Amino acid sequence: MAKVTVRLTLLGVLCICVISAPTKKERDVDIYSFHINSTVTSRYAITVITSRVANRLNESKEIHFEVKISKNAFISKFRMTIEGKSYDGIVKEKEEAQHQYSQAVSRGESAGIVSSVGRTLEEFKTSVTVAAFSKVTFELTYEELLKRRLGKYQLLINAQPMQPVSDFKIDVYIQESPGIAFLDVGGGLSTDELTKAITTSRSERKAWVNFYPTLEQQTQCKSCSQDGLNGDLLITYEVERAKYNSGEVQIENGYFVHYFAPMNIQRIPKNVVFIIDRSGSMHGRKIHQTRLAMLKILGDLAGDDYFGLITFDSYIDVWKPELLQATESNLMTAKAFVKEIQDRGATDINAAVLKGVELINSHPREGTASILILLTDGDPTSGETNIEKIQANVKSAIKGKFPLYCLGFGFDVNFNFLEKMALENNGAARRIYEDSDADLQLQGFYVEVATPLLTHVQMNYTGVKNLTQASFSQYYNGSEIVVAGQITDNNLETFQAEVIAVSTGHSVTYKDPSAEALDPEKHSTVQRIWAYISVKQLLEKEVTLEGEAKEAAKKEALDLSLKYKFVTPLTSMVVTKPQEEETQVAHKPKEGKQHPSLDTPDRSFAAIPHHPGFSVAASHPGIRHQFFGWSSQPYPGHHGRPGDHGLPGPPGQPGPPGLPSLSRGGYNRFLSGRGSGSTLLSRADADLHGIHEMHDYRVPVRPTTRVYITATSPPVSGVRFIISAHGQPNPICYDIPAAQKLRLLQDSSSEFTMTGELVLYGGKGFKQITLHHEEKLLIISTHKINYSDGQNTKTFVWGQDSSNLQTNNVSLILRDNEMDVTMGTVRVIFLLHAKSGDAFLWPAVRQQPIGMQGILGKTEIQYEELPGSLVKIKDQEVKASWSTAVDYRLHSAPSIKCWLVPFQSAMQGELSDYTVLQL
Ligand SMILES: *[C@@H]1O[C@H](CO)[C@@H](O)[C@H](O)[C@H]1NC(C)=O
Ligand SMILES: *[C@@H]1O[C@H](CO)[C@@H](O)[C@H](O)[C@H]1NC(C)=O
Ligand SMILES: *[C@@H]1O[C@H](CO)[C@@H](O)[C@H](O)[C@H]1NC(C)=O
Repeated sequence: MAKVTVRLTLLGVLCICVISAPTKKERDVDIYSFHINSTVTSRYAITVITSRVANRLNESKEIHFEVKISKNAFISKFRMTIEGKSYDGIVKEKEEAQHQYSQAVSRGESAGIVSSVGRTLEEFKTSVTVAAFSKVTFELTYEELLKRRLGKYQLLINAQPMQPVSDFKIDVYIQESPGIAFLDVGGGLSTDELTKAITTSRSERKAWVNFYPTLEQQTQCKSCSQDGLNGDLLITYEVERAKYNSGEVQIENGYFVHYFAPMNIQRIPKNVVFIIDRSGSMHGRKIHQTRLAMLKILGDLAGDDYFGLITFDSYIDVWKPELLQATESNLMTAKAFVKEIQDRGATDINAAVLKGVELINSHPREGTASILILLTDGDPTSGETNIEKIQANVKSAIKGKFPLYCLGFGFDVNFNFLEKMALENNGAARRIYEDSDADLQLQGFYVEVATPLLTHVQMNYTGVKNLTQASFSQYYNGSEIVVAGQITDNNLETFQAEVIAVSTGHSVTYKDPSAEALDPEKHSTVQRIWAYISVKQLLEKEVTLEGEAKEAAKKEALDLSLKYKFVTPLTSMVVTKPQEEETQVAHKPKEGKQHPSLDTPDRSFAAIPHHPGFSVAASHPGIRHQFFGWSSQPYPGHHGRPGDHGLPGPPGQPGPPGLPSLSRGGYNRFLSGRGSGSTLLSRADADLHGIHEMHDYRVPVRPTTRVYITATSPPVSGVRFIISAHGQPNPICYDIPAAQKLRLLQDSSSEFTMTGELVLYGGKGFKQITLHHEEKLLIISTHKINYSDGQNTKTFVWGQDSSNLQTNNVSLILRDNEMDVTMGTVRVIFLLHAKSGDAFLWPAVRQQPIGMQGILGKTEIQYEELPGSLVKIKDQEVKASWSTAVDYRLHSAPSIKCWLVPFQSAMQGELSDYTVLQL
């Protein structure tokens, strides 16, 4: 889909539009043609979106191109054509692109122009200024290999041009050599009125789907509005397989691809163990949905399947100490067990998975397939919590004998951890989205692995090189194994393929797959399929490798991405624009990065949250940055995960996620400002230039005038603190000079104090924090942690293997660079930040009684925004600057926007009220 329109304009001049514009025939920014052309050859879909837009105004105008594409796809081409001149996106190594094109990008200040939206789509957006009465053509190409799931392939095309388009076309052309068994067109665009606009036609091996809605249909349909179409076209098909039990080989230009999905095989009885997280964070709907899904899944087990159930928090409960056959009576007691699953406690993933492995291992059965399925919604917090150790333990327990599938429920899981663990054990990780259909997602996943048909599948080839993965632990009904490679010397004489596998206890061989040589003159599809699979697999492999092997896999994936011009997690596309020669850099977001700031930092995407509602692009290298457009990027506020003990998440997070930024209070003003002829200019934070502050300037200019601001303000000499604001999306922040000793938390009644000393200069955080509770003393420095209960002492060293200490009133858990401290009624997590330069500490208070004194005792502030960069706090109007602060309460240390005010205004007191002489 494409929102090729100036969203800003639509909203900014809404007052005018609403009255006069919507029915106006000719729009100021007119998308006069919008085509999506998707060609699927042997499951490989290459889709081109072409949008032609005219600026009908007598002045130049910023025109936006926003489309959503499949998450599995790689963008391979982007071109803008203006006044006969073409500007092509260039794919470069990610770091190089960042370095070369903008300091802003490398600091996460600029526009990541590809971002995740929802479960299956990614958004691509860019914009360009088009002269009066001129036109622009945007053309975006993306490629993906359609994956067979539950016996079918699906091609999803999203269309949302944001206005009715007189020449609107979606053309899909599918060619499959074995023949097309069935074809179905569905999705939101295939309902009611719009079905009339769809035509499909088929021959044995080819199919065409054309969707040509008229202007009227684009506005009159049920889900349509004045803004035209908004929805998906979902094309589902399957290829003929009856004659192709050994699979189908396509050969072209010295490359081959082998699709292997035999039918009519007896299913293999399975041994399946479900390991279910019931920690406190599963509370509520999640645990309810898990119970629902499990009841359904149990009902679907076959009579000769054996199964086991494990639920875990910090304790492991095994339904029965051994695997039991899925008989009616066993299923009945299992269902009763499932209905009783309650959430509580912490998360001991290590012990739970090892128990599952033990269950399977103690029940060897000839001719069966074993599967381990882990469902969790959080990080390991109990027992072994070092994720590397857990991964090593699990790998050495499973020994490659059966696959482990990891289902990560929601966005608080460490998905990288689950993914690595699954990939290391021949499985896969899947995200379960926290939504009303989570139980269906769980079942859906189970169904995909419910029917193993083959195990130990080995794909053997002769006369080939550069093969993609060729051995597979299991093959499931409804799926497909795809292997590609290069044929040595393009010699078809020596090329041979066979498959050896195990089916219900005996070895089976599949020989002589049907082979077809495609017309080598015209295409390089098979080669691209090979490259696509290779890159995907190398990226997965890289996850599981270490050291040199990891670097080698990464290098290979990078080289292929560059050669085939794929925008992958290792590459970026640099889009150079005409006129001022601005550039924009597009990255592929990582899977499931809905809340990127909570996962490992991914600068490309982490860029967006800091600028809800607008993006900043670097122009010339230097410090001139420019406001150029609005995005619909939902503001990915980081949620605090409700702790496993029912503790509240970290305070001070900006607003709820998922709200379109345009509806957020603070930004509406900018919108109306823009509409009335002013624009917002922002200057990016420029460490490189010794500038540490960020201000925004609202200067009245014509919408298209470019104004650059040169940085001049003095560097900050203190440490910046953030307080979340009640009912406001943006927090307040304030600076405290470095080298102060501060009272952070104090509660006289429970004899608790926490004090901290800020680092001496170049300040970012604390060099030491001390906690007193009754006679207990905990001293945390950037080197080590000393605890004394008045008699005994214990020392922890950062970065050491995780260790902990638990007494009745105190819990200390050290994992890597994080110390989780509970003393009485206070729980604080101390993070050791050491990324750039000197190490420093930052406390993230997770739980404290009401009425605590000290700097961190104030957890929330109320303010009101007034015009002219003023904020009103407690009846006082204060001059504020629109600034950024780094939230060190999270490991990813995201930058967030905040109103910077003096300390006295934020804390309603003098700094001296909060300082101490000694820690
Ligand atoms: C779609 O793209 C293919 C491949 O580039 C081309 O052959 C075909 O003519 C296009 N179809 C339409 C309707 O433009
Ligand atoms: C554009 O047209 C409007 C009215 O049609 C006129 O008022 C304005 O001066 C024109 N602007 C330019 C730059 O020609
Ligand atoms: C595999 O799935 C197909 C439908 O896709 C079904 O007809 C067939 O019976 C299944 N095979 C087994 C062994 O369950």
